[in-house]
Amino acid sequence: MQKILSLLLMSLIFLISFNVKAEENNMTAKKVLVAYFSATGTTAGVAEKLATATGGDLFEIKPEQPYTDADLNWHSKQSRSSVEMADKSSRPAIKGKVADMNKYDVIFVGFPIWWYREPSIIDTFMESYDFSGKTVIPFATSGGSDIGDSGKIMQSLAPQAKVLNGKKFSSGVSENELKKWVAEWL
Ligand SMILES: Cc1cc2nc3c(=O)[nH]c(=O)nc-3n(C[C@H](O)[C@H](O)[C@H](O)COP(=O)(O)O)c2cc1C
Repeated sequence: MQKILSLLLMSLIFLISFNVKAEENNMTAKKVLVAYFSATGTTAGVAEKLATATGGDLFEIKPEQPYTDADLNWHSKQSRSSVEMADKSSRPAIKGKVADMNKYDVIFVGFPIWWYREPSIIDTFMESYDFSGKTVIPFATSGGSDIGDSGKIMQSLAPQAKVLNGKKFSSGVSENELKKWVAEWL
């Protein structure tokens, strides 16, 4: 009787650990990168939660020349961000590169909404890599505006990629909500 019980127990342990392993494999089947630009930290917070939710690598898109408070002043037409955003061909330089973009299947690209779309530095990012065969999924934070045409603009800059429309999140979005959002692509 004891033998049968211990055999049953062993099979149960095997089945549970097999299931856990299968779930882990499923989560890591697609290689995920979460790349983001954040001028004041809000998008960074969402990007970190998204990296945890997806098990993906995190990459911060850092400007070669950091944005000062004066640069971010949208009330002034002369501020750096206003000048850049008014010029569709503006491509602010990025410091550093993703080590091996080749290995990723799905790339989430996060940013704050600036003047109803993605900041120009995201345009620099989209033109810096070969996204052939990859899915790019934008995500954003904002003061209220939606993600707008960001996905469409990003698609035009990287025609070899499949760029989705993406979604805007509030800073307080939960990891669980993000997990549900990403489920269809991972
Ligand atoms: C230059 C600039 C332009 C902005 N334009 C918009 C906008 O068009 N619509 C909006 O809802 N919020 C706008 N915002 C607010 C940011 O999108 C919002 O604060 C965002 O969450 C900041 O993210 P971050 O902390 O990651 O930089 C703008 C902010 C800046 C600095």
